[in-house]
Amino acid sequence: MKVAGKAMRPLRANAQRDAVQIIDQRLLPHRLHLETLYTQQQVLTAIRDMWVRGAPLIGATAAYGLALQMRQDASDGSLQASADFLRSARPTAVNLDWAITRMLRVLRPLSVAKRAAAAWDAADAIAEEDVAANAALGRHGLALLQAIAARKSGPVQVLTHCNAGWLATVDWGTATSPIYQAHAAGLAVHVWVDETRPRNQGASLTAWELGQAGVPHTLIADNAGGHLMQHGQVDIVIVGCDRVTARGDVCNKIGTYLKALAAHDNGVPFYVAMPTSTLDLRLMDGVVEIPIEDRSAREVTHLSGRTAAGEVVEVCITAEGTTAANPAFDVTPARLVSGLITERGIVPADEAALRRLMETAP
Ligand code: MRU
Repeated sequence: MKVAGKAMRPLRANAQRDAVQIIDQRLLPHRLHLETLYTQQQVLTAIRDMWVRGAPLIGATAAYGLALQMRQDASDGSLQASADFLRSARPTAVNLDWAITRMLRVLRPLSVAKRAAAAWDAADAIAEEDVAANAALGRHGLALLQAIAARKSGPVQVLTHCNAGWLATVDWGTATSPIYQAHAAGLAVHVWVDETRPRNQGASLTAWELGQAGVPHTLIADNAGGHLMQHGQVDIVIVGCDRVTARGDVCNKIGTYLKALAAHDNGVPFYVAMPTSTLDLRLMDGVVEIPIEDRSAREVTHLSGRTAAGEVVEVCITAEGTTAANPAFDVTPARLVSGLITERGIVPADEAALRRLMETAP
């Protein structure tokens, strides 16, 4: 996608194959800053501390982290240690584990001498496949938006949660891909952007992205979605996901479940954009089986923002000593999901459909 007219991705490997450049997302929307990572330790820090974030992006970034380590030491011991190290960065999004597992499958059978080059090729493939998958799922999602547009006047009203935009992927985004494609096709779309407390990925990232692309949008407090749905102001909810189980339970940013409940109660379709790299067929019951990341209480008790003087500062919003809990994700049961928008088409959130989808993998 473009920023100020210039093509940009949140992750780019350099031509010398010895570093990757990322956007430090902690600084957006106030500052667009690129950072260069040279080592697996720097990659781990960038993922764990959310310089890069979003399920597909952390998978692709971790793949390059492993490739960087293979340049230093491509022995069997180093390969396994690097895989374990990078996997430990964040627990919930399965794309991290998926990417590392795929890298190991490619690299283990190779001689040590061949691993560094092969690792970079494999990381490039993961990154480019993510771009292609998101573009493809966007085309399927576009058909949903076109169908809504055909039966109403005025813009199609989409509600989204967190940032499942191009910043969360290598390009296009997942939930935003149908929106960007609709906008490019001249379809009138308007997006309700949940602010997404506590880290505010909606306010800081999704709103910024949509603004850069010229897509009409309105930021709302997380608690406003149900009210808008009751008043017929939301035609469809589209969210991203961090892990989807074999039976179609969807794990995504905390607060997604409440949006699904409100959508269900109001007859609003609730769709999940899911590249198949986010499907975890090893798990069934998402509520019980998906590990939910517990993040720092400070993300709840403190807020950061820009002062009138242009300085970015952090402030505390609680009385001293207030205890806070910060579960970072929740699980929406499959029964509340209208469909999963994948790169291979839109499928129901149920086990038979998902297993069939993967059996027909190219
Ligand atoms: O904690 P984050 O910002 O990494 O969480 C991201 C989300 O929950 C996204 O909505 C999800 O990863 C989908 S990204 C295409």
